[in-house]
Amino acid sequence: MSKTFSILLASMLAVSFSAAEVSKSDLASNTRLKNTMRKFATGLDQIQKGIIYNKREKIEIGVRVIRQAKRNFFKRHGEILKKKLPDDPKFAAYLAKSSAERINKYINMMSDQINTSHDFSKIAAAYTGIFNQCVGCHQHLRKNFTED
Ligand code: HEC
Repeated sequence: MSKTFSILLASMLAVSFSAAEVSKSDLASNTRLKNTMRKFATGLDQIQKGIIYNKREKIEIGVRVIRQAKRNFFKRHGEILKKKLPDDPKFAAYLAKSSAERINKYINMMSDQINTSHDFSKIAAAYTGIFNQCVGCHQHLRKNFTED
């Protein structure tokens, strides 16, 4: 084997090795993102049940689950979310930051409402506010319907 050829082969191997490393870490970030998303879904579900079944406790559990799940959202998931929109990673970053801020705003609004009033229309409005953030981001960063 000529020297140039073996150098070329070695560098090709190095490149493919580091590409495998990158996708491995992307896979891990994706799993972490999905875990957060499932917590969001569980929290939102509890809130909806609390509203429908008239159970403050359920709403409080949902609020806690969403609060915990959205902690450091951008720091934890910003990089993988940017990769979901390779043509416009800046917009992906904007979506990630702004939706996390708005979820925070509506979750605070909701916990104020459950402590100070029994106005379910306001609690439901905060629920819708949160849900719109989920849908808004999914609309842009997620692929169309998947079949399993
Ligand atoms: C900043 C963007 C963003 C926001 C905000 C967001 N999501 Fe997601 N969500 C995603 C992306 C991207 C995926 C696709 C992940 C994948 O399949 O790789 C996803 C996937 C999901 C999934 C599927 C997870 C799985 O296991 O396949 C659920 C459930 C979900 N989101 C729920 C929610 C709920 C509920 C909210 C709001 C409280 C929310 N998401 C807010 C970006 C977001």
